[in-house]
Amino acid sequence: MQTFQLYEHASTIPVTPYNAEDWQKGYESVKQEVDYWIDDIEGEIPQNLNGTLFRNGPGLLDINGQRIHHPFDGDGMIAKISFKDGRAHFSNRFVRTKGYQEEQAAGRILYRGVFGTQKPGGWLANAFDLRQKNIANTNVIYWGDKLLALWEAAEPYRLDPHTLETLGLEYLDGLLEPGDAFAAHPRIDGETERLVNFSIKPGLSSTITIYEFEPSGKLLTKHAHAVPGFAFIHDFAITPNYCIFFQNPVTFNPLPFVLGWRGAAECIKFNPNRPTQVIIIPRNPKQPMQLLQTEAGFVFHHANAFEQGDKIYLDSICYDSLPAVEAESDYRQTNFEALSPGQLWRFEIDLIAKTVQRQNLESRCCEFPWVNPKKVGQPYQYLYLGAAHAPQGNAPLQAILKLDLTSGTREVWSAAPKGYVSEPVFVPHPEGMNEDDGWLLTLVYDSAHHRSDLAILDARDLNRAPVARLHLKHHVPYGLHGSFTPDCFEPLRSQD
Ligand code: CO
Repeated sequence: MQTFQLYEHASTIPVTPYNAEDWQKGYESVKQEVDYWIDDIEGEIPQNLNGTLFRNGPGLLDINGQRIHHPFDGDGMIAKISFKDGRAHFSNRFVRTKGYQEEQAAGRILYRGVFGTQKPGGWLANAFDLRQKNIANTNVIYWGDKLLALWEAAEPYRLDPHTLETLGLEYLDGLLEPGDAFAAHPRIDGETERLVNFSIKPGLSSTITIYEFEPSGKLLTKHAHAVPGFAFIHDFAITPNYCIFFQNPVTFNPLPFVLGWRGAAECIKFNPNRPTQVIIIPRNPKQPMQLLQTEAGFVFHHANAFEQGDKIYLDSICYDSLPAVEAESDYRQTNFEALSPGQLWRFEIDLIAKTVQRQNLESRCCEFPWVNPKKVGQPYQYLYLGAAHAPQGNAPLQAILKLDLTSGTREVWSAAPKGYVSEPVFVPHPEGMNEDDGWLLTLVYDSAHHRSDLAILDARDLNRAPVARLHLKHHVPYGLHGSFTPDCFEPLRSQD
């Protein structure tokens, strides 16, 4: 058996624990679709880890050699790892969206991307083309007996959970109309297992619609709220009684987009002199919305929220400003040191005094927060995040960070200098008693071998070596979000 290379001790890590060329290789397209039992494994897969991990993210960073401008514009590819009785099976499939099929057939870029991808031919070829390509690349959830690939600006795509075959657009029993949005960050209430999600229609005044479903998939409530101003909202948080949104201080000038000069997201401008608006919408539609204010900043992801008396506590990853999507720049040349890192802040929202106070909980660069699913919306102790290897500065995510929010202690498992991590998905141990009884599953891009590993970490103690490290036969480009279901979707036919 090979030895683990964990570089746990700072002395073994170079001053800059990553290398730009190594990092860039993780953004190579994957063209092949494969199915196989994973047989190159360090350690052992726990016998009681049963179920399926689904991951979503851009699989193609180019269309037949024509580079896309930003990874967020990349076609969604689902990677699936199913676990049963100590074995694991990998497969991946692109979501057969309308745009994916058309572009693959044509062998060239036919659609503009929200994050700046343009059709070849300069601005004249792009002007007044406001069509949107639903790339289904942001998240994937198995819920209500449906596997759904999500992209926040359009309808979900439904897939077969065994084969990952695309079944078509999903309208949730007629709840969604053609062209409706459905956000990529649904929250499943840790207590009631109800799913809460939202959609947003941005404009001079923006409309937020909340959907709440029974665990069976039946719609419970749907209510819409107008909020003043343009709203660019990727994620939200829930508590037993509230949905909480941050309306970041940004403005949108559509002209360069309409004229074909810029992608829509490149027309969003951060305004550091305006406050962030905190939007609190009660889950009971009969109660009124509240709008409060806090410091300027930009949030993509909230970690969790909970209530205590008349206060809501909300933990979020905040940036000093919106990391800009530049028209002329190459995302692979990102100068990490020049950007402000995402950091974890706790917001104390007083619903009576109508004040918001914030406190920094973690200054290490971090993203992709996860908690034990039973703690969503509840007071909680442990938070897991992707993090930079170094405690200061901005850098690619190479480590997994566990924070004990009660004691203030932290543990770090690092894959530096050659490894780059993805979101840590927490899987509860089936007989677990404590909040951290479980595993963290994270795909690690191993630049030394140009392949990805699935690392299984014992969430109780990140100082231990991984329980197992499953070497895939290829790499999986840096992904966005995913989820785990205890349902095991093994391949229907044995293929080993
Ligand atoms: Co997200």
